[in-house]
Amino acid sequence: MKAVIFDLDGVLCTTDKYHYYAWKNIADGLGIYFDEEINNRLRGVSRMESLNIILECGKLEVSEEEKLELAKRKNKIYRRLLENLTPRDISEGAVETIDKLRAAGLKLAVGSSSKNTPFILERLGLANYFDAISDGNNISRSKPYPEVFLKAAQMLGLESGECLVVEDALSGVVAAHEAGMLCACVGDAAKAGAGDYNMRSISELLDIVLKRGE
Ligand code: BG6
Ligand code: MG
Repeated sequence: MKAVIFDLDGVLCTTDKYHYYAWKNIADGLGIYFDEEINNRLRGVSRMESLNIILECGKLEVSEEEKLELAKRKNKIYRRLLENLTPRDISEGAVETIDKLRAAGLKLAVGSSSKNTPFILERLGLANYFDAISDGNNISRSKPYPEVFLKAAQMLGLESGECLVVEDALSGVVAAHEAGMLCACVGDAAKAGAGDYNMRSISELLDIVLKRGE
């Protein structure tokens, strides 16, 4: 194992709750029922695909123009919530784990579907922590397609088999596997037992990576 590729929302930071608030606001406005379970289906998938899932739940058909408007409104709410983001919103144990992985000689990357990745990393004070950042701005298909992780490996100059992905989304686990990478999970995906490794906390990553190197 030569690199670890971290998902952002729900792995490195707790922004997943802000996605939830923002989508809940949009769904309420449309009179569509929305809860945590539906929200879990939005993890890892792009903004427009998330909207499509919500509209499908409400059996609501709207024009492409309205969709763009709704997605724009959701992002405006989300960005307002992100204004309050500080390094305190970094997931517990993440910085220590990243530092130890780096000290052990591993390369580190971000692999996220979010177009807000640069802004979030900046707010968290993590903008200069990674060797590569692959995000929603440089891909044409979001998770469960493997593109975001394949691009991250390419940026690092590594083969898929040399990279371990860390994910909280079922769509992210599929993307990692499609990319030919092993996946360590936290949160929702770990609860479902979807990963090759299912962790209670990101700190367990150290054991996983260092043991695989033995
Ligand atoms: C992923 C989130 O990281 O980014 C998804 O898990 C979200 O819920 C996707 O839809 C796109 O995010 P953004 O910030 O570009 O709207
Ligand atoms: Mg995530």
